Amino acid sequence: MIIAIDGPAAAGKGTLARRIAEAYGYHHLDTGLTYRATAKALLDAGLPLDDEAIAEGMARKVDLAGLDRTVLSRHEIGEAASKIAVMPSVRRALVEAQRRFAQKRPGAVLDGRDIGTVVCPDALVKLYVTASAEVRAKRRYEEIVEAGGSADYDAIFEDVKRRDERDMGRTDSPLKPAEDAYLLDTSEMSIEAAFQTAKSIIEAALSRNA
Ligand code: DC
Repeated sequence: MIIAIDGPAAAGKGTLARRIAEAYGYHHLDTGLTYRATAKALLDAGLPLDDEAIAEGMARKVDLAGLDRTVLSRHEIGEAASKIAVMPSVRRALVEAQRRFAQKRPGAVLDGRDIGTVVCPDALVKLYVTASAEVRAKRRYEEIVEAGGSADYDAIFEDVKRRDERDMGRTDSPLKPAEDAYLLDTSEMSIEAAFQTAKSIIEAALSRNA
């Protein structure tokens, strides 16, 4: 039982994926963390971010059980991750590990950019979660301010757009909805409403599959 959730940065797919996994008792993997963990390992070791063979070696060593979201969420790690995420051999290594995770019983929810298109094309349910760049930047801004930090909305907005361009523009596994994905635009939707919509899509798929 695999649920694939894709979408651009800060669209709310992580929160949605966690809630779905919790509601159904499934395992959850934020695949962005696998790219982030690879990038962090390179940065920590003082290794270059533009050498594909070295990056692939690091990707093969990533332990999916030890991914720490708090540590890996740092901005500079995200930037470094998006650079190595364009490398085909890094993607191949991480996709292999992600596919193994997807086989976990009783089910798995994976979120990322290419889950429905590349990692798990046979997933039972595919959701493509999106929101306008303005709304995503505003959410990220509020998240930082609420956590007591200081943030610059314009810089975040530019960052969101740059990240979109990199994710959608790369040759290998660009971000795009799978043909059979349900599109969920959360620009004007609360996370609770998005969750309820996702749940009804999943319920319908589960009963078709029973
Ligand atoms: O979702 P995130 O910000 O944690 O992702 C970090 C980077 O990894 C981002 O640039 C997109 C990339 N990524 C990817 O290419 N494929 C995935 N399945 C998940 C993330």
